[in-house]
Amino acid sequence: MTFLISAGPTREPIDPVRYISNRSSGKMGYAIAEAALDMGHDVILISGPTNLAPPRDVKVVSVSTSDEMFQAVHQHAEDSDVCVLCAAVADYKPAQVSPVKIKKRDEGISIELVPTRDILQSLGRQASRKFLLVGFAAETDHLEANATKKLREKNCDIIVANDVRIGMETDENELLILFRNGETKKISRAPKKILARELVKIFSNLQQKGLTKKM
Ligand code: CTP
Repeated sequence: MTFLISAGPTREPIDPVRYISNRSSGKMGYAIAEAALDMGHDVILISGPTNLAPPRDVKVVSVSTSDEMFQAVHQHAEDSDVCVLCAAVADYKPAQVSPVKIKKRDEGISIELVPTRDILQSLGRQASRKFLLVGFAAETDHLEANATKKLREKNCDIIVANDVRIGMETDENELLILFRNGETKKISRAPKKILARELVKIFSNLQQKGLTKKM
């Protein structure tokens, strides 16, 4: 199977030297890429800026902004069997990007932010998609309720929910997996590499079942 995996943060420029971003390290997405590769799958990794070395034999598409990530994901999704959108895409970007460095002044300044496009939702809305669509939910509270809402609103097959107070920038995480049919599965705290192997097994099994059903 071919896995498309998005990982890491995006950077939304304010001016040539400044941007808005978040603390995502990309570790979970890179671990999923490595696990998928180890299990014999082809992997396209669409990555925002991270400090990680991508696994060998993975096709890497490096992006920076949410718009670049949107384009890259759409370009490769059709050729994939499983799309795992693990990236922490910025929800807002500056309405205008200053072409020159904004100079310091004595008074405060405001930056107008506008929403970015939701990549996961845009794939979920494709009526004829053939790939399994997996989203992540990064939450600090009401984990299951918020993740259930994302599963429904973004129309994906699976949402992998995690509490960012445990998983952000660390090597471990604890996951709650929500399926479209209402089933849930909890995976207790473990290194991201172990979790990644579990996830890849779940995704490929479900995609296999879907394909068998369609035949
Ligand atoms: N996502 C996306 N495009 C965006 C924002 C999020 O594709 N512009 C995807 C993420 O890759 C993830 C899922 O949507 O798979 C949920 O991301 P998350 O940050 O948890 O939720 P948001 O939709 O941004 O909602 P909120 O910030 O209100 O929790």
